[in-house]
Amino acid sequence: MNKKRILTGDRPTGRLHIGHYFGSIKKRIELQESGEYEPYILIADVQALTDNFNNPDKVRKNVREVAIDYLSCGIDPKKTTIYIQSMIPEIAELTVFYSNFVTIARLERNPTVKTEIAQKKELFGESVTYGFLGYPVSQAADITAFEGKYIPVGEDQLPLIEQCREIVRKFNHVYGEVLVEPEAILSNGKRIKGLDGNEKMGKSLGNAIYLSDTEEEITKKVMSAITDPNRIKKDDLGNPNICMVAYYHNLFSSQEEVKTICQECKAGKRGCVACKKQLAQNIIKELKPIREKRAYYEAHLEEVDEILKEGTRKS
Ligand code: TRP
Repeated sequence: MNKKRILTGDRPTGRLHIGHYFGSIKKRIELQESGEYEPYILIADVQALTDNFNNPDKVRKNVREVAIDYLSCGIDPKKTTIYIQSMIPEIAELTVFYSNFVTIARLERNPTVKTEIAQKKELFGESVTYGFLGYPVSQAADITAFEGKYIPVGEDQLPLIEQCREIVRKFNHVYGEVLVEPEAILSNGKRIKGLDGNEKMGKSLGNAIYLSDTEEEITKKVMSAITDPNRIKKDDLGNPNICMVAYYHNLFSSQEEVKTICQECKAGKRGCVACKKQLAQNIIKELKPIREKRAYYEAHLEEVDEILKEGTRKS
């Protein structure tokens, strides 16, 4: 029992898409299966409320959806503890105490928070809420309440871990060596672009393939993906470097397939429609086990709820 405790989390604001899958979920499963760690995954519904306070139903509904996505991907509740933030009131309590160790100016300088505030002008107008500005404090409570030592995250989360470390140091300076200072492990895979070529994949952008999408939805979305705009007829010579279909073939198709596809595209011997159909088939195939497991859990919701209850109880 000398496993290192690792802690990660997500805001439950929607079902998970392939960007989440390649970005963080695959890595979490790898860490889980390595047997070296004791992983915890937090469903951060309280944090989700900070930018969805006007839509609590969305958050409530997605707690279970995200849990089903985790389980369907292979997060194994026997190895990874999945728990719900709002059901552990001590996290909120700690947040109040930690808030004395953070200045408003420091929060306003946090690059991640700053970027998000800029993106959420519609919600916040000219003045951001105290709750949202302060979510790094609550995230520090998420991490330290569980003595999370290693935090596997993507680059966007680094400023939050840094802010947590500062809080820990200040707290320990006054109250003694109580809290464990966490370390980020930059472990996430690469960020996947949207079907339209946008750097970000997301629901609001309408450019995401969800792990729970049906075969028909996947095909329809792939058919709408952006290809080389200069290629109008099939025998025009294509440039796979500026084609989202080629980009996704790299993620879902074998190296051999990719090679052939790119060669034929560049020579004007392969039509985009055929290329898209092949991609859709490969995505459908790769996501099939996930969809099947989801169907199982959707038919056994009491099992999902039991897993969440048990994980939260243990936490
Ligand atoms: N901020 C993370 C996100 O937006 C979610 C999160 C909440 C988290 N608490 C955490 C991540 C603790 C790592 C550790 O996705």
